Parts: sequence; structure tokens; C-alpha cells
Amino acid sequence: MTHLLDHEFEQISALAHRKWGLSIDVKKRVIVENRLQAMHREHPIDSVQSLVRTIDGGGARPLELALFDALSTNHTSFFREEEHFKLLRKEILLPAIASRKGLRIWSAGCSRGCEPYSLSALLRETVSDPKGRDNRILATDLSTGALAAARTGVYSRQDVSGVTPQRLRRYFRKVELNGAPRFQIVPELRDIVSFNLLNLLDAWPMKGPFDAIMCRNVMIYFDSPTRDALTRRFISLLRPGGLFFVGTTETLSGNDIGADQIMVGAYRKRGGGR
Ligand SMILES: C[S@@+](CC[C@H](N)C(=O)[O-])C[C@H]1O[C@@H](n2cnc3c(N)ncnc32)[C@H](O)[C@@H]1O
Repeated sequence: MTHLLDHEFEQISALAHRKWGLSIDVKKRVIVENRLQAMHREHPIDSVQSLVRTIDGGGARPLELALFDALSTNHTSFFREEEHFKLLRKEILLPAIASRKGLRIWSAGCSRGCEPYSLSALLRETVSDPKGRDNRILATDLSTGALAAARTGVYSRQDVSGVTPQRLRRYFRKVELNGAPRFQIVPELRDIVSFNLLNLLDAWPMKGPFDAIMCRNVMIYFDSPTRDALTRRFISLLRPGGLFFVGTTETLSGNDIGADQIMVGAYRKRGGGR
């Protein structure tokens, strides 16, 4: 498979939209072609038509996940959009210390783990005994490649370039991989994070309530009805007063979602006594 014909590209993008909510712009056609080419080495593809038919028919989970991996974007970084972490600390973490209650936070679309590990570091810096208080960070994504990297917690120098020297010393251990220096997250940050495979468009097995949910730079690839429906599901899993975050360049629809915007990309669920 080299170049995609118009109708083949349309079949792939319709499948991505149906299955995962992704809207793939026609400008990304060459990228899609290159990624399918790379995928072909491990999962030989006879034709786009048979690929789509097989995935639609179900029962080809590894193939389906490989295609998702090929089409999704995993760009992420530690403490990305740091103002969100400061808000979370002030609004949720510090009040929880006073009430001595455990916290549940969900990083939805966690990619390679930078977001949930940043949350874990924030908890460590705020709460003296994060593990002892039954604090839990749930991290989910549909990319098996990204989740595997997240679970290993090994990052390149480029990945940690935005991390302060103090945090780098405290939360990463220097390791070597194929002769190149790498930085591995320390066990104390990993202990309270659990990674799970989840398609956000499917049923969600977890129950609320969460104190905060981050779904940042994920729904940016979804169309607005999908974004709207997911936003409502996220808000319904928050406790009253809980916070919901999207990326700072994302906009939610003007419809009432049962939460008030308190910062760019940050929303507080109504009913928390404020
Ligand atoms: C650009 S990354 C954002 C990572 C992180 N939230 C951040 O802001 O740094 C988007 C992530 O969303 C995931 N994603 C996209 N569609 C998804 C879906 N339908 N279900 C689960 N994860 C999805 C991708 O695999 C990718 O890892």
C-alpha cells in the first residue's frame, strides 16, 4: 500500500470517526499514508476495504488497536498548561488536606503518562502521605503504545526538558537505554497511578465521583456533538464542586453543561456549596 485513493482515505477517516471520535483532516492524508505503511510491516494490509471491513466486524482487536495507534496523536509533556495544576492544588488538593480525605483524579487521554505523573508529583508536593490517604490517579488511553511507555515511565532528555531541576532530581532516576541517557519516574510517583486501556466512546467501567478529571488536548480531534456528549459524561462523574479540565486552546459548546468556567480550560461542577 503506497498512496491512498480518495475513497480509501474517506473510508479510513469515517472508521476513525465511528470508532474513536477522531476527525482526520484531509491535510493529514500523507501522514496517514506513512503511518499505514509503517503499520503494514507488523499487520499486513491487503486493502483498505478489507482493513475497514475486518475492524468493523469486530474480533480483530490487535489490528484495531494498531490502526488507532497509527492514526492518533500522542504529543504531551510534564506539567503542560501549568496553570491548571496550580488551580487544582488550590481548589482541590489543599482543601482535601484540611478535611483529611482521599482524592480521586482521572487523566482521560493520558498518552505517555506525563499528565498523570505530573498529578502524582503535585499530590506528593502537597499531601505529605499521598499513598496513605487513599489517593488514586486513574490514567486511561486507547493507545497501547502510549500506555506501554507510560507504564515503563522512561523518558528522553527532550521529554524532561521542561521539568524544573528540582523536580528532575526528586522524581526521576537516570538510566541508560541503548547507550542513551534516559529518565525514569521513581516508584513513589508510580504507586498511586493506575493505567488502563479505554476508548472514551465506549461504556466507562469506573464509577464516580471524581474530585477532578483532566481530558486535555484529546477532544480537540472530536467533532462538537461528540465533545458535547463526552463533556456531559465527564461532568456527571464529578462530585459537586469537582473540577473538569480541557486544553487551553479548546472550547466547549455554549450549552449548559452543569459546570461554570473558572479559568481558561477549567470548569467547576455546580452544587459544591459555592
Ligand atoms: C495529544 S494527547 C494529549 C495527552 C495529555 N492529555 C496532554 O494534554 O498532554 C491525546 C491522547 O488522547 C488519546 N485519545 C484520542 N482519542 C481517544 C479515544 N477515543 N479514547 C481514548 N483515548 C483517546 C490519544 O491516544 C492520545 O494519547
